[in-house]
Amino acid sequence: MRASIDRVHAAIKAHLQLSLDATDWAPTPNKQLGDFAIPCFKLAKALGKAPPLVATELATALSAPLKAQGFSEVRAVGPYVNVFREAASLYQELRDELKNNPTQFGGRGLGKGKTVVIDFSSPNVAKEIGLHHLRSTAIGNSLSRLFRLQGFKVENINYLGDWGTSFGKLIEAFKAEIPLIGSAAAVEKKLLAEGLPYMLDLYVRYNRAEKENPALSEAAKAAFQKLESGDAESRKIWQLFRDASIREFKQLYARLGVDFDHFDGESLYETRLNAAVQEVTDKVGTRISEGALVCELVGHKVPILLRKDDGASLYITRDIVAAEDRWQRFHFDHSLYVVAVQQKLHFQQLFDLLRALGKPFVDRCEHVSFGMLSFGSKTMKSREGNMIFLKDALDEGKAKALEIIRQKNPDLADADDVAEMIGMGAIIFFDLSQNRSHDVKFDWDSALSFEGDTSPFVQYTHARCTSLLEKTSSHRKTLTNGSGEAPPALLAHEAVRGLLLAWDSFDLAAEKAYVHRDPSQIASVTLDIAKAFNQLYHKVRFLDTSDADELDLLMELTRGTKHLLKHGLALLGIRAPERM
Ligand code: ARG
Repeated sequence: MRASIDRVHAAIKAHLQLSLDATDWAPTPNKQLGDFAIPCFKLAKALGKAPPLVATELATALSAPLKAQGFSEVRAVGPYVNVFREAASLYQELRDELKNNPTQFGGRGLGKGKTVVIDFSSPNVAKEIGLHHLRSTAIGNSLSRLFRLQGFKVENINYLGDWGTSFGKLIEAFKAEIPLIGSAAAVEKKLLAEGLPYMLDLYVRYNRAEKENPALSEAAKAAFQKLESGDAESRKIWQLFRDASIREFKQLYARLGVDFDHFDGESLYETRLNAAVQEVTDKVGTRISEGALVCELVGHKVPILLRKDDGASLYITRDIVAAEDRWQRFHFDHSLYVVAVQQKLHFQQLFDLLRALGKPFVDRCEHVSFGMLSFGSKTMKSREGNMIFLKDALDEGKAKALEIIRQKNPDLADADDVAEMIGMGAIIFFDLSQNRSHDVKFDWDSALSFEGDTSPFVQYTHARCTSLLEKTSSHRKTLTNGSGEAPPALLAHEAVRGLLLAWDSFDLAAEKAYVHRDPSQIASVTLDIAKAFNQLYHKVRFLDTSDADELDLLMELTRGTKHLLKHGLALLGIRAPERM
């Protein structure tokens, strides 16, 4: 649709010598009124005329030039100029784009020659990936694909939480476990065998014991100090937790189809922290407050803590160094942090500190925040150990999908893989179809419904296209060839037009999704295409036609729709089954 809008803007410019912005257009309340509208308020102001008068004059003046460029009608409606695309040329243009550029359909090169760094997922070592990490993973993965669609060079970074005071606790918990199990080697073996659930258990038990015995807090602090000062034994235990965690995280990412270019954890910056603190001291100023090192920034009510009273380093200090490192390595145009809204203050502090330090890249950094995801009544706090794990949620989704498949299509081949696609798609789509800043209350029944605004509905429509193409291909063989032209009467059919307009909105949705860092735009255009196709399917009997040209057009529409549904889902990180 962007090309059509640009054409109308250019025609206006040629006629009035007035330029409009890319955003100067509006959707029409219904398609009977036009495919889209150009509001005339801005033009009217520049011309010193009433907007409806400008609209009427423009509609008359633009009619001939636009008709020569693939428009069928230009009409004034109050203060708007409404336009209609001519169906055959719209169809031709969309078909060409689908043919020439299938994998990049909808991308407009907005990021050509530019680089974006996306920090997402970034779970904490030795803790399970929780549902808040799922949100970060799903949103970050989709944004990564959306930026790539626009031609950006994308660097996906997993900034693992692999440094910090909680490692003091883990090291102490590991040591406390030795007499209970027998030997360090035995604890190590158990850790490797049981992985994250065991690590989490160690952590939870230590926290619980700490409540009764404050000496354990001191011991954990001391242990982290030892780790930070390079103690070999602490380092070895830390490495064990880290490696075992990463191994499991990678399995989960493989399952989710998410790729990272870099696993750069917080520990990467361990040796550069003192220099960063010194830089803040030199350039901005710091002071000691109750033994800790703090920095006071104008506009910040609370001082920013840079080093704890026991000398331990902090999350924000590591982020200062990481931001600079990313700048040096990638010279990014944008650096996104896909992190829950709970860390809003953290990122305000971080960006303001970077600004105070005079870092040239700070205005390219953004916190892409999101609300909380909840599953029924369970909360997500790992300290108490009652969180729902992402892996469990995926398994549950798969099991539920398998149940549905058994009822609907008991003979389905690959039922297991299809169930995985449906269950995972249901969770991810439910999440991504909402505005990211909202809290999301997950509900299996709505997420898995085949009739709602869901991934299973889109996936089902995709599978329907596959089977329809098989049936229509055999029917096509019984028909003699026609003229080879798409029949104008069928192209003018309301349902065909509705489908083409839905295809045509894909580029605008991709643009908005990129501009606002908002994957829900892709979720809705994909749903629109699926709905428009189902309308067509119900209104036109594909297998009844004996006209080869008609059938060819319907098959082409089915092929295009199948491709776009798959493409839309892929941009969200969801797979589309051929059958379900
Ligand atoms: N590991 C952190 C957490 O789980 C998220 C890290 C986000 N990225 C960053 N650069 N701070 O809360």
